[in-house]
Amino acid sequence: MPSKIAQIRLADCGAYYIATDINPHAVRVTSETLEAHGVQAELITTDIVSGLEERLAGLVDVMVVNPPYVPTPEEEVGRDGIASAWAGGENGRCVIDKILPVADKLLSDRGWLYMVTLTANNPSEICLQMREKGYASRIVLQRSTEEESLHVIKFWRDIDDRLQANETGTVNKTGPARIFDSLLSQFPGLLFRRNDGSSSS
Ligand SMILES: C[S@@+](CC[C@H](N)C(=O)[O-])C[C@H]1O[C@@H](n2cnc3c(N)ncnc32)[C@H](O)[C@@H]1O
Repeated sequence: MPSKIAQIRLADCGAYYIATDINPHAVRVTSETLEAHGVQAELITTDIVSGLEERLAGLVDVMVVNPPYVPTPEEEVGRDGIASAWAGGENGRCVIDKILPVADKLLSDRGWLYMVTLTANNPSEICLQMREKGYASRIVLQRSTEEESLHVIKFWRDIDDRLQANETGTVNKTGPARIFDSLLSQFPGLLFRRNDGSSSS
C-alpha cells in the first residue's frame, strides 16, 4: 500500500478500508493506486490517525503500517517534503512509538496490527512494549538487502494469556521470557552465546 496506514473495518456489508498519510501527495498516489485496482477506500490526510480516534476506537480489525523507520537526526522527522517518507529520528522510532498506543486504542478485540520495522528499530524491544499492553507478536516476514534488514511484525491481543492469568491469578512466564521464547522459535538456527563461553541454540 502506498499510504502509511491502511485500516480495514468490517461493517455489515463487508470490509471498509481507510488509508491515511500525512503527505497529501502520498494520499493522491494512494487514491490512484486504489482506483487502478478497483478498490474503494476512504483516504484521509492526517497525522497518524489524528481526528479519527473516537470514530474508530475498538473497530479496526486489520491495521497495516509502513512507517518512516530510518534512523535520522530528530529534526528531520515530520519535515515537509519527501524526507518524511523515511525520517524516523533516533533509532528510527519517533513515528513508530507514536503509532503503538494509537493501535492499542483502535484495534478491535480480535484486531491485528502488521508493522514494517528495521533491525535498527529494535523489533524485540517493540514486541516487549506491546507485550506490556497485552499483545502477542510474531515476525511473519523478514527480508534483507545489502543495505537493510526488514521485518513485518504481527501483533494481536493475547487472549490465551489473559485467560490463563484469570484462571491462575498469574501468567507462568514473565513478558521478556515469553518474547525471548517467541523469537527463539522464529530463528531456530540462531546461536546464543553464554557468558561462560558455551553456546546454546
Ligand atoms: C516508508 S513510507 C511508506 C510509503 C508507503 N506507505 C509504502 O508502503 O510504500 C512512510 C510514509 O509515512 C508517511 N508519514 C510520515 N510521518 C507520518 C505521520 N506522522 N502520520 C502519517 N503519515 C506519516 C510518509 O508521508 C510516507 O508516505
